[in-house]
Amino acid sequence: MKVEASAPAKVILVGEHFVVENEPAIACAVELRAHVTVEDGYDDILLSSQNFGSSIKLSIKGDILDGRENLKIFEPLLRIDRILRRMTDFKGGYKLEVNSSIPPASGMGSSAAVAVATVAAVSKIMGLELDLEEISKIAYEAEKIVHGSPSGIDNTIATYGGIIVFRKSEGFIRLEADFSKVMLIVADSGLPRNTGKMVRKVKNLKNKYPRVFEPLYHTAGRLAIEAAQAIRDGRFHDLGELMNVNHGLLSAIGVSNRKLEEMVYTAREAGALGAKITGAGGGGSIVVLTTKEDSLRVSKALKKISRRVYVLNIAEKGVVVL
Ligand code: PMV
Repeated sequence: MKVEASAPAKVILVGEHFVVENEPAIACAVELRAHVTVEDGYDDILLSSQNFGSSIKLSIKGDILDGRENLKIFEPLLRIDRILRRMTDFKGGYKLEVNSSIPPASGMGSSAAVAVATVAAVSKIMGLELDLEEISKIAYEAEKIVHGSPSGIDNTIATYGGIIVFRKSEGFIRLEADFSKVMLIVADSGLPRNTGKMVRKVKNLKNKYPRVFEPLYHTAGRLAIEAAQAIRDGRFHDLGELMNVNHGLLSAIGVSNRKLEEMVYTAREAGALGAKITGAGGGGSIVVLTTKEDSLRVSKALKKISRRVYVLNIAEKGVVVL
């Protein structure tokens, strides 16, 4: 049997970092997808990634037979294998291939999309019928290996798709919204960064100045609620303004840099409704909201100073198994 699954990239519209401390955040799935193909009938576990050009071979028990140097890349997928095996009596091996169009380490949730698609595909091969909640939960365990203590927003949006308001302690609600008059642009700075490291950096600063940071977190939470209302009402000028305020808060907690500021101001000067860091910051990407009419001008301006620019549609579908 051969199973193919895919899951979408995400963009955090407002609330990253603050979401780690249980403030609400808004994320939407976008039409760049991670694809995972799994085929059974093998004696061992063969994992490969077209994006990294690397592979690893393990026995069913988990002993590494080949490609030990790539263990770090495949560790989250092995964690998924171990968890799923405990839930079934499947004893076989399989061949798994990752092929993702989501740029890694760019703030678009590539690791979560790969994890979600992997859980969906491997569980099918093992004869399990998981619901979406279970898929997201197991992908979260893999995300912990990549990011330390993630909020869970990435695996949630990659699983369910659409636009969601997410809160760590409460889960998520879906936002019904009409984005047909606006565009989302994601521009990648090309500067690599590590989500876990950025989250720790923010945590250290927050621990040092708790009384300064608490109001900032409270403000970010209020901002996310206002932004959700603006999305529901189709008030995209207001959403853009709130994204700009959110960027100011992200700068305040120390995750911006000269390059990201240059990109944000370039987008705003070219006519964007709003522009901000998306994801962990310190590198990675910015997200820009524009009207349809201004999107070409804004994306052209960003192309001159970014490594890659994506003009994106919202992905209504989360994880899909073929
Ligand atoms: O940059 P990404 O795609 O890894 O997103 C990180 C989002 C954070 O809020 C910074 C961390 C988290 O776990 O939510």
